[in-house]
Amino acid sequence: MNDIFLSACRGERVSRIPVWFMRQAGRSLPGYRKLRAKHSLLKLVQSPELAAQVSMEPIELLGVDAAILFADIMLLPIAMGIEVRMVDGIGPVIDAPIDRAEKVSQLEPFDAERVEYLNETIRILRSKLSVPLIGFSGAPFTLASYLIEGKSSRSWIKTRRFMTEHPESWKKLMSALSVGIIKYLEMQISAGAQAVQLFDSWVGCLSPEEYRTYVLPHVQRIFTALKKTGVPRLHFGTHTAGILDDFANVDCEVIGVDWRVSLSEAKRRIGRKSIQGNLDPAMLLAPWTTLKSTVDGMLDEVNSKKGYIFNLGHGMLPEVDHAVVRRLVEYVHSK
Ligand code: CP3
Repeated sequence: MNDIFLSACRGERVSRIPVWFMRQAGRSLPGYRKLRAKHSLLKLVQSPELAAQVSMEPIELLGVDAAILFADIMLLPIAMGIEVRMVDGIGPVIDAPIDRAEKVSQLEPFDAERVEYLNETIRILRSKLSVPLIGFSGAPFTLASYLIEGKSSRSWIKTRRFMTEHPESWKKLMSALSVGIIKYLEMQISAGAQAVQLFDSWVGCLSPEEYRTYVLPHVQRIFTALKKTGVPRLHFGTHTAGILDDFANVDCEVIGVDWRVSLSEAKRRIGRKSIQGNLDPAMLLAPWTTLKSTVDGMLDEVNSKKGYIFNLGHGMLPEVDHAVVRRLVEYVHSK
């Protein structure tokens, strides 16, 4: 059993730096693409044998030190009664978004039966994997942004307007999501997930003041509730340089950062927690010498085999060549 990922999460010294990549399952991988030619994303996610196969592909092909459950952040809203369509080239689409304060009550309590198939996927994975399995959920802000906007956004105007115009309804929405997230992650941990990551992919659009007022208490509640499970808890967001002091000030083991902040600065602001990141995903498309010198720079800044997990600063791009990624994994392992 290779558990250097879990050791690094807990801040222990490891023999070599653990590596995994956000969005490593799927996208760029040939086995996933073959399966997607036959099945929709939701069909794959809901078929435990196939989903487990997708989660396992990067372990052999890339040589990474952790697997991530093949699922999507929108499974939680689905398990809370929201209808979500997955549209190729766009992402999640909600035809009846929560675009008015009164609609918050449309969100039902988390119903584990609606995502029961994940338990089976997790069990299959645990019986086959020789690396730890990471479970995950979207964070309340990032989920709320899809629920309110109805689809991907790069400005999140409706979300931020909702937040300031209807602070009480916003609180209700964030609380309902947080309760659901806790139950959802507890379910994954009971089934066998050995670490959990909260993806707050879009929260970096907020000011530090907004983050503290509208988001932090909810995220804090989630991490506090999960402490008793004993599994490492990872908190990830992008564009978080402006809010990093608050973002990192939650009760968790690992903070994931993107490439817009240097690892040395992040380390300074994060303090004693472990750090995960932060290669620019586009760097995987750069010539090897450029990629290598960027990685050397990152490792120089970290300068430790304690409390560091090598990862990207955001998800792996579909265009990457897995031979390059494998070479990178071997290179980081050799350092
Ligand atoms: O990338 C992130 O910011 C991570 C958080 C996140 C996930 N899904 C996790 C995930 C976000 C923001 C989503 C929403 C989502 N769902 C999008 C992005 C839309 C946008 O606003 O930009 C998309 C395209 C989907 C649909 C989806 N989810 C597809 C097509 C797939 C299959 C593989 C792929 O990446 O193309 C997923 C799987 C998925 N979503 C995983 C995770 C952690 C599974 C594990 C993995 O890919 O490694």
